[in-house]
Amino acid sequence: MQKLQLSLAIIKPHAVKNPVALSYIRNVIKNSFIVVKTRRICLEKETAEDFYKEHIQKFFFNRLITFMTSGSIDLHIISHTNAVKLWRKMLGPTKVYKAQFEEPNCLRGMFGISDTRNVAHGSDSVTSAEREIKFFFPEFSFYDWHTHDEITYR
Ligand code: TYD
Ligand code: MG
Repeated sequence: MQKLQLSLAIIKPHAVKNPVALSYIRNVIKNSFIVVKTRRICLEKETAEDFYKEHIQKFFFNRLITFMTSGSIDLHIISHTNAVKLWRKMLGPTKVYKAQFEEPNCLRGMFGISDTRNVAHGSDSVTSAEREIKFFFPEFSFYDWHTHDEITYR
C-alpha cells in the first residue's frame, strides 16, 4: 500500500470572497483529496511576513503581504498518495498569463486575477508541506492524524 502524503492548500482572500470560485475550488479539493483539517483565519501582517519570508527580497513582497492580509483565508490540510504534486498541478502556473494561456482549465487559469491574486497556495515539496502545516497547525500530529475522527470526507 502506498503511503499517504500531506500538503497544505491555502485559498487566498479574493477567492474566499468569490462564492463561485470558492465553491468550485472546494468541490475540486473534496473530490480529489482527503481533507484532514480545515480552518478559516485572518492573517496578521507579521504572520504573513513570517510565512512568506523566503520572498522577503522580491519585488512583489509588500504587495503579497498586503493582499494576503486583506481578508480571510481558508487553510486545508489535504491528503493523497501524491498530494504535493497533484495540488500544484491542479493550481497550475504561478503567473496568471501563463496559467490562462497555457493551462486555462487549471484553478489559477480559471480564477486568477494577477500574479499575486493567483487563487491558492500549494506546498512545493513534502518538506515544505511539513513546515507549513506545523506553522499553521502547531498542535497537528503527523504520526496519528489518520486515526482522528475530525477527518472530513464531505
Ligand atoms: P512562489 O512561491 O514563487 O509561487 P507559488 O505560489 O506558485 O509557489 O510565490 C509565492 C507567491 O508570491 C505567489 O503565489 C504569488 C506571489 N507572487 C507575486 O505576487 N508575483 C510574482 O511575480 C511571483 C513569482 C509571485
Ligand atoms: Mg511557493
